[in-house]
Amino acid sequence: MDVNDGVVVTGASGLLGATVTLLARERGMRVTALYGTHPFHAEGVDARRLELADEGAVAGLLDEVRPRWVVHCAAATGVDWCETHPDEALRINADASGALARAAAGAGAQVAYVSTDSVFDGERGGYTEDDAPAPLNAYAHSKLMGEVRVREALPGALLLRTNLYGWNAQPKQSLAEWVLARLEAGAPFPGFTDLVFAPLLTNDLAAIILEMLERGMAGTWHLAAADAYSKYDFARAVAEVFGHDPALVTPTRSDDGGLRARRPRNTSLDAGRAAAALGRPMPSVREGLERFRALREGGYVNLLKACTGQ
Ligand SMILES: NC(=O)c1ccc[n+]([C@@H]2O[C@H](COP(=O)([O-])OP(=O)(O)OC[C@H]3O[C@@H](n4cnc5c(N)ncnc54)[C@H](OP(=O)(O)O)[C@@H]3O)[C@@H](O)[C@H]2O)c1
Repeated sequence: MDVNDGVVVTGASGLLGATVTLLARERGMRVTALYGTHPFHAEGVDARRLELADEGAVAGLLDEVRPRWVVHCAAATGVDWCETHPDEALRINADASGALARAAAGAGAQVAYVSTDSVFDGERGGYTEDDAPAPLNAYAHSKLMGEVRVREALPGALLLRTNLYGWNAQPKQSLAEWVLARLEAGAPFPGFTDLVFAPLLTNDLAAIILEMLERGMAGTWHLAAADAYSKYDFARAVAEVFGHDPALVTPTRSDDGGLRARRPRNTSLDAGRAAAALGRPMPSVREGLERFRALREGGYVNLLKACTGQ
């Protein structure tokens, strides 16, 4: 690894960004990790608070740091919050992403923009990169506009549509953590039978993103597990992998749950193109969950939590 292989990670205090940061450090990259309101610190990492909507500050940072790559994980990710704050969602997810890509282009850096499987309407699932996006809610619309703005600013950017779960540095829970916390408390978990996805473990996704950057890849790619699960089946798989009673997971439907924003039903992505380009299959959901368990047993959760002082 060349010392000039610097990477700026946005959203370092978030679910994906924290793991991208730690993995980039492990791979010997010079890492600048940006957070918003939740401080994040890791030894050997230049961590800084930066408001992404502040275009001048973003441009100044990239001009100073001159990274080779930017992994843009930061976003307004609250789907129901975005529904009631559509303008703010666009400002952060689209406008700020576009400004970041412009600044990166000016500094000679490549950008990986983390997008979402929610850009599709979820009517059939198994979406390839050739399928037309049709977002159903304000969050998805703002993320799709982020793709557009980033591509306008940097036509060779990496646009990565995905879905993910994993261990959080902050005291908040990804779906798998939430399921596990309920099961460990002996409480039932209502799993949606009508929402289908193909999520990747953050650690697997982070490794793929860094590899794609190292290989100089560009354009739009789908990154997803090799198989698709309903959220109900996913929660049952969490129970099985961690040795809990799968019967604690009860079937329910998303329209019973009081969600504000419309959810696309089946957002499973076909990641065959990325798997072929990388020369290996995407992990299955079950493989991801086995690794999710092994990470905790190996002390990874403590390592992450220490980064946010938990
Ligand atoms: N999680 C999923 O299920 C999922 C599924 C599909 C796609 N994605 C995409 O994957 C990416 C990572 O998601 P995630 O779940 O890791 O997100 P997350 O845990 O909600 O973290 C979001 C990060 O963005 C930062 N951020 C938000 N607004 C900011 C602002 N105005 N200025 C500076 N930083 C700001 C937050 O910083 P602070 O907390 O410090 O304020 C935090 O570090 C996002 O682009 C998301 O759209 C996520």
